[in-house]
Amino acid sequence: MPMTDEKKQEIMKAASEVRARAYAPYSNYHVGAALLTKTGKIFLGVNVENAAYPDTICAERSAVVSAVSAGERDFEAIAVATSNGGTPCGSCRQVLAEFGLDIEVLLIDESGDLVQHNTVQDLLPGAFQPKDLSE
Ligand code: THU
Repeated sequence: MPMTDEKKQEIMKAASEVRARAYAPYSNYHVGAALLTKTGKIFLGVNVENAAYPDTICAERSAVVSAVSAGERDFEAIAVATSNGGTPCGSCRQVLAEFGLDIEVLLIDESGDLVQHNTVQDLLPGAFQPKDLSE
C-alpha cells in the first residue's frame, strides 16, 4: 500500500521535531530521521557524535537500528531533516538498501519543506544486496 499523504506529512514533521535531540557537538550538523514501517509505525533516529569522531552514528542508521530492535524490517519510507536538506551518506544508503531499494527517501530542510523525494534505488544504483551473497 503506497504511503498516504497524511503519513508523509507525519514523518516529515517527526523528523523535523526529533532533529532537536541530535547530539552533534562537533559538527553542529543536526540530523533527525523518521522511518515508516509498512504497518504504519514510525521509528525515530538522530545522529549521535563521539569525541572519537568515526564512532559517530548517523540519524538514518539510528532509526533503522531502533526499528529492527523492535522487530520491524519492512519499511515504506524515511524522512530525513537537516538544516539544508542534505542527502544521506553512503553508509546510510547501504544500510537502507539492505531492507529494500524501493524505500522512499524524503529530505527536509530547516523550514520543514520537502527538498528531494527519491527511492533508495535512485540514491544507490547497483547496491550490493543480500541476494548477492547467494548467487
Ligand atoms: N549525518 C547523518 O546523520 N546522516 C547522514 O546521512 C549524513 C551525515 C551526520 C553525521 C555527523 O554527525 C554529521 O551529520 C556531519 O557529518
